[in-house]
Amino acid sequence: MKTYSGAPYAPDTHSALQRRLLRNASLPARATQADALRLRTAPLVPEVHLFLAEDPVLLWARIEADAGTRLPAPFWATAWAGGQGLARYVLDHPDLVAGRTVLDLASGSGLVAIAAAQAGAAEVTANDIDGYAIAAIQANANANGVRLICDDRDLTDGDGGDAEVVLAGDCLYSAELAARFVPFVARAAARGATVLLGDPGRGHAPETELETVTTYDLPATSAADYEQHEKSYVLRPASRVPAMRPGR
Ligand SMILES: C[S@@+](CC[C@H](N)C(=O)[O-])C[C@H]1O[C@@H](n2cnc3c(N)ncnc32)[C@H](O)[C@@H]1O
Repeated sequence: MKTYSGAPYAPDTHSALQRRLLRNASLPARATQADALRLRTAPLVPEVHLFLAEDPVLLWARIEADAGTRLPAPFWATAWAGGQGLARYVLDHPDLVAGRTVLDLASGSGLVAIAAAQAGAAEVTANDIDGYAIAAIQANANANGVRLICDDRDLTDGDGGDAEVVLAGDCLYSAELAARFVPFVARAAARGATVLLGDPGRGHAPETELETVTTYDLPATSAADYEQHEKSYVLRPASRVPAMRPGR
């Protein structure tokens, strides 16, 4: 596990490439370039400032060219529709997280984790398996003046450990990932954690397993995601009432 909680771009925790990426990409001189990152806010969450891509595909091409190798898409450079709704919900309901330990799974930019910290969580761990996301989360945490613990392990075989609150924004973007994340959140809920997910209706959230807590309308200009979505749904594991057996 890597944990970061101090200065930005700590040399022992980030590769030189990651440091260069975030430093160069956010320079004012690059700010108008389409492959740059820019510090800005997402439509539903004006409280949180994030280094976001002007154009994620062009950014992806540039960081692959810099790295000289194929890389995962820079999902950390987008404020995903599902994450926006979940972050909004956390900020609007701070009692959910205030004074509690929070795990933000599939954290990407750290949007939801930062919202949890702003809402008064005692300790927030941002988890993502992409090392670039970890660097971005640290940069974004610093930009917002909050302290996060970062964890780059794949935690989906577990149940969220001792986190009292488990949050997951837009982690159900493929059937394959839903098959990992839905059982994970069910295990976290079964051990007593408060569990919330955010999803814009990508079609991989099983209605039998997850129920809707609330729905947000996304502004039409909310092109911060790879696709345009009209809604962002906050979901939780469905409460299961034990079936009554005949004769009992
Ligand atoms: C669509 S992005 C959502 C990011 C952020 N939560 C948001 O809503 O803006 C999904 C993230 O899940 C991460 N991811 C994929 N598989 C994962 C896993 N097994 N464990 C943790 N993160 C994972 C990806 O690296 C990516 O950053």
